[in-house]
Amino acid sequence: TTEAPAKKKAVLVTGGTGYIGSFTTLRLLEAGHPVIIVDSLANSTEAVIPRINILRPPTPDCPAPTFHKCDVTDIAALDDVFAQHKGEIDSVIHFAALKSVGESTENPLEYYRVNVGGTVALLNTMHKWGVKKIVFSSSATVYGDATRFENMIPIPEVCPLGPTNPYGRTKMMIEMVIEDHITANPSWNGALLRYFNPAGAHPSGIIGEDPCGVPYNLLPLLGQVAVGRREKLHVFGTDYASHDGTAIRDYIHILDLAAGHLSALEHLEKYPDIGCRAWNLGTGKGSTVLDIVKAFSRTVGRDLPYEIHPRRAGDVLDLTAKPERARLELGWKAEKTLQEACDDLWKWVMGNPKGFNGEITDPALME
Ligand code: NAD
Ligand code: WQD
Repeated sequence: TTEAPAKKKAVLVTGGTGYIGSFTTLRLLEAGHPVIIVDSLANSTEAVIPRINILRPPTPDCPAPTFHKCDVTDIAALDDVFAQHKGEIDSVIHFAALKSVGESTENPLEYYRVNVGGTVALLNTMHKWGVKKIVFSSSATVYGDATRFENMIPIPEVCPLGPTNPYGRTKMMIEMVIEDHITANPSWNGALLRYFNPAGAHPSGIIGEDPCGVPYNLLPLLGQVAVGRREKLHVFGTDYASHDGTAIRDYIHILDLAAGHLSALEHLEKYPDIGCRAWNLGTGKGSTVLDIVKAFSRTVGRDLPYEIHPRRAGDVLDLTAKPERARLELGWKAEKTLQEACDDLWKWVMGNPKGFNGEITDPALME
């Protein structure tokens, strides 16, 4: 007789209804992990969950995610969630945060309260309930301008940190808080995942990025230009030292990014003694703003209009990852192309003009 495979352990995902959180939830479910989502819905909607359920494999090993509307800064509410799932939760993936760079400059205290304070509350609650593995959403923004050093592009994890805005500083501080806690508690371990620029949607068109409010990032803005909600893209700066003068970023497909979380989690499970370690999640390939305009224009089949503007405050020339550490240690690398990210984003935008709160109207999407 063959033995049934061991049941996978549950993962608590904070910010699990958000953009990266929803894709990671799906990836965890596909791998057989039960998922408990905690989200305040500050920048997302519960309507993503039925969509995740359409995509998740229809097997008994893959139950629907459990959802708790809960603010991570509310330690009593967090404690209640852990109490309800006593003995089930083995690890936490922590996405919940505020993420607008501009807003963080205007209201830094709110960013420190939610991002840093929320993480401290979460770590305390984990500590109380004996949950000792954490995967944290850090950001390439912790590096700031890596061109200030020689030989630091593409950016390795050993590059000194130097974030240029309050949002980035919350991420750097949280990394330090987690590292200090793990140093003091050697039975814990943790992964600090520094994401480069997440892009794209699910190739089915069923889930994608649907933030509340005005988008800030390049690809969602280009999507709005393509559907006519915006007249043209503003290209911020053409005087950078790149092949066309526009700034360079490392755009990583959201499915690759989600898979990176599963790899990191499996690494923590396999090596309980590794302590706290940072990994870049990027492709290693840089693209300029105009490269992106070209790729997305190819996706939609026409030239998208743009206009040249001065540099955006706080922007840097180049944020391209050196992704070797994740490849060697986590066995993970990005597989999808920029063109796939553009094509998948377009399918999501076209199929969901009202985001998650609209109906799924295309019967092809329900196959
Ligand atoms: P998102 O806004 O879509 O997801 C964040 C989720 O956290 C949202 O669902 C929001 O409702 C929730 N949330 C916010 N405050 C909360 C609170 N106090 N309690 C509970 N839930 C709360 O953003 P995303 O793009 O999916 O980003 C996820 C994480 O990755 C964030 O920590 C972000 O800083 C980080 N990150 C994002 C990017 C990016 O470009 N998208 C890049 C690097 C790092
Ligand atoms: C990409 C490029 C812009 C909008 C941000 C955060 C970072 C991380 C990812 C969370 C830049 C240019 C943009 C526009 C433009 N998030 N651009 N016109 O700034 O690399 O990173 O998101 O951690 O912390 O800072 O991403 O998509 O805003 O910009 O020309 O209307 O596109 O100048 O060069 P960014 P982005």
